[in-house]
Amino acid sequence: MTINTTTVGGVATIEIARPQKKNALTLAMYDAMTDALEAAVADEAVRAVLIVGQPGIFTAGNDLEDFMQRPPTGEESPVFRFMHALAACDKPVVAAVTGAAVGIGTTMLLHCDLVYLSEDARLAVPFVSLGLVPEFASSLLLPQLMGRAKAAEKLLLGDPLTAAEAADFGIATAVLPAAEVLAHARRMAERFNSLPPGAVRDTKRLMRAGSKDGILRAMRAEAAVFAERLRSPEAKEAFEAFFARRKPDFSKF
Ligand code: COA
Repeated sequence: MTINTTTVGGVATIEIARPQKKNALTLAMYDAMTDALEAAVADEAVRAVLIVGQPGIFTAGNDLEDFMQRPPTGEESPVFRFMHALAACDKPVVAAVTGAAVGIGTTMLLHCDLVYLSEDARLAVPFVSLGLVPEFASSLLLPQLMGRAKAAEKLLLGDPLTAAEAADFGIATAVLPAAEVLAHARRMAERFNSLPPGAVRDTKRLMRAGSKDGILRAMRAEAAVFAERLRSPEAKEAFEAFFARRKPDFSKF
């Protein structure tokens, strides 16, 4: 089992649990997370969703073996279904992040409502280093949040974001000692039990109304380029280098 789901006290928890592979997300894991999000939306007893990783690792992003062997083919592929389900989730989504959050581990946070990071959390969007391009509307949202010049450092050079930077740029709600992140995030999620769910839902919808269409457009535009990039010799070199534990050589391109 690599995605654990539980619903307790009004909170549907989605736990990424594949620590031996740094919580890298496979097709089956995206499907399980999509199912859990859809079930949470449909269940009247659920007031909030909580997404958590393992101590010291949120997720190393998309499974790179899957990217090589089973690349996403279109809107119906598991990764896109997950992105659409999270972007469309009408209940509050809270994330608790300790350790690394790479690729979609970071970009999914841009679609959560409350994001709690440990002091040692490291966010990274190293798409270019993998021969790829940003996804989940991060090419739109990161420049909006950070300004284009700072976003270029993260998206073009692939430099990680510290937890403090993520909080400064409004990507994270708060930064806490690692041992407190999960309990704090759960407490915040449970607060929705005592709030009127209709007003919460309408407020979330209104907060996103202005950006929703642009986000969907960006996701689609990114997805088209991403699919091409996955087949590129640059990406092949990057993936092979990762699994061979060597530095990629882009000098020949
Ligand atoms: N896909 C598939 N396997 C992955 C993975 C990924 N995204 N990330 C890590 N793993 C695997 C490693 O291959 C390794 O497997 P092995 O023990 O069978 O050799 C295992 O998880 C542990 O990873 P390792 O790199 O040794 O851990 P680390 O603590 O040194 O580093 C990370 C952790 C997250 C910094 C590093 O694993 C990493 O950079 N992963 C790739 C991140 C990435 O590029 N994601 C895609 C973004 S689009």
